[in-house]
Amino acid sequence: MRLIKTIDEMRELRKATRKSGQRLGLVPTMGALHEGHLSLVRAAREKSDIVAVSIFVNPTQFGPNEDFAKYPRNLENDSKMLERDQVDVIFAPSVDDMYPADAVTWVTVEGMSDRLCGRSRPGHFRGVTTVVAKLFHIIEPDVAFFGQKDAAQITIIRRMVRDLNMPVEIGVGAIVRESDGLALSSRNAYLDPQERKSALVLHRSLQSAAQLFQRGERNSESLIAAGKQEFANLPNARLDYFEIVDPNSLEPLATISNRALIAVAAFIGNTRLIDNVIVDPGR
Ligand code: PAJ
Repeated sequence: MRLIKTIDEMRELRKATRKSGQRLGLVPTMGALHEGHLSLVRAAREKSDIVAVSIFVNPTQFGPNEDFAKYPRNLENDSKMLERDQVDVIFAPSVDDMYPADAVTWVTVEGMSDRLCGRSRPGHFRGVTTVVAKLFHIIEPDVAFFGQKDAAQITIIRRMVRDLNMPVEIGVGAIVRESDGLALSSRNAYLDPQERKSALVLHRSLQSAAQLFQRGERNSESLIAAGKQEFANLPNARLDYFEIVDPNSLEPLATISNRALIAVAAFIGNTRLIDNVIVDPGR
């Protein structure tokens, strides 16, 4: 496994692997790795000759009052996990290398970037699409893998790739959960034991809406009400949004007649967590 810390070195390695016709799969991450990330590594392995994982806590996708400074960073531990999973390359650039001080160029997927998390985290998706576009330019992957856990992120990245003709295939991995249903997240490390229990409300609210859907309810307002009800009387949980949208456009749906994305975001104490489920009337 090679640990690469500069853009120049990454480009050199990619040039060499391209010459020998090797297919490269990329898993972009911000580190603090867990089984969710590793499931994407395994999916990448199946579709590529070389697996690269980028580890970069991207400052431009954090708001001014968010957790950029305290976001967990542990390259040594992450490297060990990736070594065990036979990753070929870790790309872990510095902020200075990725963002020259006078950088003023952004990639924005307009409209969509203001939906779901984009509404409560202005500028978040602009930061995500900009850094992912940069990673694609630097690493030139044939295929890149993202987790369904960040469903809006996938929709927005797919649209960017299509609109800007980026020659990369996008692969999606299912949400990996703890045995009690909590979606794995690097931010779960912030939760104290009491909050860890309360955090289950996200999954519970989705299940509640999904079960009502299974019983035939197609009206979003009713499904949303069922989901939101789970947040009543939970002192350390504050709902950010509970929405039902078209997974391809992120537009809100009044009734469900096709595949729909039910997405939730909530603060558990000071920790913001997200989760989602897809429901499909055709199934
Ligand atoms: P990060 O939160 O580190 O997540 C990296 C990838 O792992 C994302 O595609 C995310 O959806 C996926 N992932 C996280 N938790 C998961 C889970 N429980 N199950 C399955 N996949 C999971 O998402 C980012 O980083 C950043 O926005 C990034 C794309 C790297 C751009 O900076």
